[in-house]
Amino acid sequence: MSLNRLTSRYWVRIGAMAATVLTLHFSAIAQDGTATPAPADGAAAAAPAPAAGGGDAVAGEAVFNANCKQCHAINEQVVGPALRDAHKRWPSDKALTEFIKYPQKTIDGGNAYAKGLYDKYKQYMPNHNFLKDEEIGSVIAWIKAESAKPATAAAAPVAADGKGGAAADAGAGAGIDSSFLTYILGALVLVLILLIAVLGLITTVLTKYLNNNENLTEADKEYALDAPNYKSFFGSKAFLFVVTFIFTMVVLKAGFDKVYGINVNTGYAPTQPIPFSHKLHAGTYEIDCGYCHTGVYKGKSATIPSVNICLNCHNAIKTGSPNMQKLYKAVENNKPIEWVRVHNLPDLAYFNHSQHTVVGKIECEKCHGAIKEMEVVEQHSTLTMGWCINCHRETVVKTEGNAYYDKLVKLHADKTNKPMTVENIGGLECSKCHY
Ligand code: HEC
Ligand code: HEC
Ligand code: HEC
Ligand code: HEC
Ligand code: HEC
Ligand code: HEC
Repeated sequence: MSLNRLTSRYWVRIGAMAATVLTLHFSAIAQDGTATPAPADGAAAAAPAPAAGGGDAVAGEAVFNANCKQCHAINEQVVGPALRDAHKRWPSDKALTEFIKYPQKTIDGGNAYAKGLYDKYKQYMPNHNFLKDEEIGSVIAWIKAESAKPATAAAAPVAADGKGGAAADAGAGAGIDSSFLTYILGALVLVLILLIAVLGLITTVLTKYLNNNENLTEADKEYALDAPNYKSFFGSKAFLFVVTFIFTMVVLKAGFDKVYGINVNTGYAPTQPIPFSHKLHAGTYEIDCGYCHTGVYKGKSATIPSVNICLNCHNAIKTGSPNMQKLYKAVENNKPIEWVRVHNLPDLAYFNHSQHTVVGKIECEKCHGAIKEMEVVEQHSTLTMGWCINCHRETVVKTEGNAYYDKLVKLHADKTNKPMTVENIGGLECSKCHY
């Protein structure tokens, strides 16, 4: 086989390797963008094996699920303490049974340990006098069996009903981190470049050797002295395929990025008719947002302040400034200042400020960025549907002190030990955000 043909084969191989690596990279990026958590009840986690204690503990698990699960787990604190090794914290199973049956009686009856628990959890566990002693005994047997398992393996009970935790987490973990892949890609490119250099060196050395070798046949000489045949390499089908493939991938990626970016105006900061500075007013002078944006804690719209609000101060402050003359003129002519709108959802979407600032207790900065440092307001978030949805998936509803949520919290706790997110209260329903 000729040397040149040999080298051009290597080139094609290298090209093919590069293409494979690139494809891997792009598909990983695409995955990143669209990664959705796996359906919660898709992959059922393995149910814990029947406990060593036999029938007792198995029955105990059922009693626990029916009566205790909304407040307890083995390894984590829920409403009440984690129950791992709870039996060891009590002098006897009898004392523990008595406590589970009549917690308040035990706590108020002068049991110092129980009193300590109460002081920490600030509520009485409900009485369980409706349970038979054998039933409570079986729960204790189950707690013992679960406590005997190592902590990691015992974490399964959360997902033991076949839903929740483990499955979703596994789904999230399946998408490979794209920055990690970028490093791998970089390393592979380096290796490929090194390979090319080494191959080039070998070719040169071999050519030199052949040139100096007098015992070559005519045919061999022809090959050896031939200039490298780049034409046949660059004209080869394999090379054209690789180049076309890479080019198409790059164009497609750029195209998708562009399409996803349409109508996303992050960073939009129009020039306003008066150079009003949030940095000065909300930052330096610490004027409350609600003083000017009067609707922000009360209603759907935050509202933009009328000239009158400015004049509360500026009929005395900086009266000589040309900017204030604009304010005075506006009042004289009974014409509002024509502020340029920065944030603007399409009409098809419904967004309510008070729901988020008051009920949801979310800071303005979470959505609007560091307004107190902005001379000119700019759009901080993308305001896309994905942005709303992501936050609703991740954010835990602030339910403390809000009686409206008491029932929902309880219903939710019946089903799972996971905290209640906006998604769980219907924050992903189309009709909540779309008219
Ligand atoms: C409504 C919530 C709730 C329910 C339901 C509940 N508990 Fe409790 N449990 C608590 C709280 C809170 C404490 C802490 C003691 C206190 O303040 O009363 C506690 C304490 C305990 C303790 C003592 C833990 C320790 O660290 O010593 C055990 C054991 C226990 N519970 C078992 C049970 C069992 C078994 C059931 C079901 C039959 C159950 N609990 C149902 C809320 C609950
Ligand atoms: C002294 C009055 C005043 C205070 C205080 C104030 N703002 Fe403003 N805000 C304005 C005015 C006037 C505009 C319209 C001009 C502009 O966009 O700069 C505005 C615009 C905005 C906008 C952009 C509105 C749009 O067009 O989409 C946001 C967001 C905003 N303010 C948030 C805040 C936050 C958050 C705070 C509190 C940290 C705050 N503001 C405090 C007067 C005020
Ligand atoms: C609570 C009082 C207060 C309110 C309300 C207020 N400002 Fe101011 N503003 C100030 C203070 C204080 C200064 C700084 C004055 C200085 O630098 O001496 C200032 C400065 C300014 C300046 C820069 C000074 C200049 O020379 O032009 C502008 C512009 C301005 N305000 C516009 C507004 C507008 C528009 C509104 C209504 C949306 C408004 N302010 C509402 C207190 C206020
Ligand atoms: C959960 C995200 C979120 C939070 C928190 C939030 N905003 Fe907004 N804000 C938005 C969105 C989305 C819009 C665009 C609304 C539209 O176009 O209908 C907006 C628009 C505005 C506007 C333009 C006028 C309007 O009502 O459309 C102002 C002013 C404003 N916000 C001020 C505030 C202030 C002040 C706070 C804090 C007290 C705040 N925002 C908290 C998301 C948020
Ligand atoms: C920073 C997080 C965050 C972002 C971003 C956000 N939300 Fe919310 N949203 C919440 C929280 C928290 C609640 C729950 C408030 C409560 O307890 O009712 C909520 C509740 C809602 C509700 C009421 C849901 C219900 O079931 O009662 C609607 C509607 C809503 N959001 C619409 C939107 C829209 C539209 C957007 C995007 C323009 C958006 N949200 C962006 C955090 C967010
Ligand atoms: C948490 C709030 C929220 C929920 C829930 C929600 N959307 Fe949206 N949706 C929005 C917002 C905000 C926009 C505007 C985004 C933009 O302008 O980029 C939007 C835009 C859209 C658009 C694009 C309209 C256009 O003109 O581009 C469609 C279609 C849509 N939503 C359908 C749905 C469907 C179907 C569901 C239920 C599965 C749903 N949405 C649930 C907030 C929401």
